Amino acid sequence: MTSPSSTRPSSQPADLRANRWWPLPLAVGVACAVVLLVSSCDDDGPTGLAPLDPLLVAQGKTVFRFDTFGDETFWTDTLRMHEVIRTGVSPATALSVGLKVDADTLPAQVRADLQAGRIDLDDPATTVALLKLGAVVGVVGQVDASDNLTRVGITCALCHSTVDNSFAPGIGKRLDGWPNRDLDVGAIVALSPALTTAQKAVYNSWGPGMYDPRFNQDGLNIPVVLPPAFGLRAVRRELYTGDDTVAYWNAYVAITQMHGHGTFTDARIGVNVQNPPDMVSSKLAALSAYQFSLDKPAPVQAEFDAAAAARGRTVFQGAGECSSCHAGATFTDINDGELHTAAEVGQDPAYAQRSVTEMYRTTPLRGLWNPPQLRGPYFHDGSAATLEAVVEHYNTLRTLGLTAAQKSDLVHYLKSL
Ligand code: HEC
Ligand code: HEC
Repeated sequence: MTSPSSTRPSSQPADLRANRWWPLPLAVGVACAVVLLVSSCDDDGPTGLAPLDPLLVAQGKTVFRFDTFGDETFWTDTLRMHEVIRTGVSPATALSVGLKVDADTLPAQVRADLQAGRIDLDDPATTVALLKLGAVVGVVGQVDASDNLTRVGITCALCHSTVDNSFAPGIGKRLDGWPNRDLDVGAIVALSPALTTAQKAVYNSWGPGMYDPRFNQDGLNIPVVLPPAFGLRAVRRELYTGDDTVAYWNAYVAITQMHGHGTFTDARIGVNVQNPPDMVSSKLAALSAYQFSLDKPAPVQAEFDAAAAARGRTVFQGAGECSSCHAGATFTDINDGELHTAAEVGQDPAYAQRSVTEMYRTTPLRGLWNPPQLRGPYFHDGSAATLEAVVEHYNTLRTLGLTAAQKSDLVHYLKSL
């Protein structure tokens, strides 16, 4: 099996503009030319993608939800989170920091007891019982015969899954790939007795839905909004900064952030983490397949006006100049190898400067509005609280001179994506 560093293409930022991606656009072009003869062809649709292997997707789903890559050695042995949880984290506390409960794992009796208020949500022992059932999304606990929590670790689902609240707030069916914008990762980590006061202050400063995936590497504190892991199948480069592929980043996060076991080396950002044995690289293909199987959620019809959205599409492609960057069916010009300087898009350069490219990728627009889970904030640092603020940002930055009606139509359109 390849190591994480060798699965990563060795391209430098300049390669983004080279033609190493030409086969796909060419294939799409040919397919469209053929399809045009018989029917209409979406001029920029992501056609031509090979079907995903269902077995690989199924394996990846298990990895995404339940694999800790052995990171218990960090979350248990170093951070001692098992002690924190069993003594101080009641279900009420866990829900208040945004942790979610998978209702499908709850036995009928537990569901009935919960509904009838017969379960003590203020008792940490209940949290341990939920962990024993495998019900806490993204947290894997090992519980011994006397119901002691002995080991705890985290999975990808912690940050990139939430629930639909169908049973109760914070309790419902899993929504994999949806960012958990209620999750206060920093506040959770800061509960560890193993951290210094200065470290705790940084973690506590992030707030819900934010995480800094480079803090423990470069010591800077610039958290970003937890992004969705859905709708990425036809997007060629991941991250706010377009650094590399899904597999590259999955290895990065699994090893440098979750503290799973493996090796991650990238001289471009000065990261070299050796944590044997390798429990990551053999899972990256399946993990990618699962993420690529996660489509963006369908827009919620009740949340926008269809006629206004149709007008907004015209603004998006015309007076708003949005489609000059948010191009094609994926709404991003990263597929054409384009990146943007912070100044060009009116963003703070600080986060980009920590990345491989030092620039921003045009975010592929998908699932922008689906309350309560998906309701902003927007941009890498969450600097736009609402879609109205996004539109206003561009209207000012690019002196577009949009009317109030155009701005409103544009927001309806964004809600329809
Ligand atoms: C502690 C929270 C956290 C965990 C756990 C986590 N991620 Fe992420 N993930 C992030 C953040 C924050 C970013 C945004 C980083 C950036 O773009 O610079 C991100 C980015 C991503 C992206 C890129 C999204 C895009 O729009 O390009 C993917 C895909 C992804 N993560 C998948 C995973 C997978 C798979 C795992 C498990 C191996 C994982 N993440 C674990 C926080 C997390
Ligand atoms: C010059 C290229 C460019 C143009 C023009 C542009 N965008 Fe963007 N857009 C970007 C980049 C780059 C980002 C990522 C910025 C960040 O995360 O800080 C982005 C991010 C966004 C986001 C945030 C998505 C998210 O999930 O955080 C929205 C929404 C958006 N743009 C909508 C628009 C609209 C509407 C227009 C037209 C009024 C527009 N953009 C024009 C490049 C552009």
